[in-house]
Amino acid sequence: MKAHPRSWLFVPADSEKKIARALASEADAVIFDLEDSVAPARKAAAREILKSLPARSGGPHWWVRINPLGSEYLKADLGLFASADFEGIVLPKAESGADVAQLAHRTGNLPVHAIVTETPASLFGMLSYRDPKSPLAAMSWGAEDLSAALGASSKYDAAGELSFTYKLARSLCLVAAAAAGVQAVDGVFADFRDEQGLRAEAEAARSEGFNGKLAIHPDQVAIINAAFSPSKAEIAHARAIVAAFEAEPDSGVLSVGGKMVDRPHLLQAQRVLARAG
Ligand code: COA
Ligand code: MG
Repeated sequence: MKAHPRSWLFVPADSEKKIARALASEADAVIFDLEDSVAPARKAAAREILKSLPARSGGPHWWVRINPLGSEYLKADLGLFASADFEGIVLPKAESGADVAQLAHRTGNLPVHAIVTETPASLFGMLSYRDPKSPLAAMSWGAEDLSAALGASSKYDAAGELSFTYKLARSLCLVAAAAAGVQAVDGVFADFRDEQGLRAEAEAARSEGFNGKLAIHPDQVAIINAAFSPSKAEIAHARAIVAAFEAEPDSGVLSVGGKMVDRPHLLQAQRVLARAG
């Protein structure tokens, strides 16, 4: 099982200062953003900054969020991937597996992390990502662009919770990632001063099945890494389940710590141990 980045830290690619800080962080992956956080007049400068980065030596993995397929910036953005230091491409406003295939075709199959809920049509393309030949590696979701496309005046209901439409988008992303066999990455928590809120949201995401989360500020990284790292107790429990099945390889169902465990529990335990490294 391949290890998945827990924290994916966005950094606007036109800011050398922020890039230096992001690369010095404990993020598992940094996403150099060429899209929404970079003004049109700064797109070219941002590409030049990425081209002049010194070769990667350890630290976070490098991903680049390009501008959407069909945008005027796409061709120049794709010119960046001659450098082998980039682990993969984050594709915003993805609508289907065909979008991923098109990108793969143009980049020699670089891994793709698709953001899959940003347009109204995208919510109807979820099963199309399920393609064993695809270089798709991760899926995440976002509410900002979707709410703008819907003409919504707010993403929240009267109780201050995300409205149903965005919860639906989030769940579709989670389930579609599982269907496609790729990493499910939870969306950004924009209020970067609210550490408790982020911790609660990240822990809830992990218990639902997400195994990483987007970040927008370096202060979010440690909280996200912790939330997506199994605790000592979880590791011990997972080891006990794996050991029990190893001791009785012909059993489909066993009792561990007084509770029934069968194949789904074994898979989950193996996943916990893989994540623990
Ligand atoms: N990556 C690297 N460094 C960052 C950072 C990031 N995502 N966000 C903030 N920093 C740096 C700041 O530059 C600042 O550095 P300094 O102390 O050397 O001046 C330090 O961390 C503290 O930042 P702070 O003052 O708390 O926030 P800010 O007001 O400077 O920045 C944002 C707030 C939202 C503009 C900034 O966090 C940001 O640019 N986030 C990424 C946005 C993005 O990429 N969005 C697209 C995806 S949704
Ligand atoms: Mg956006």
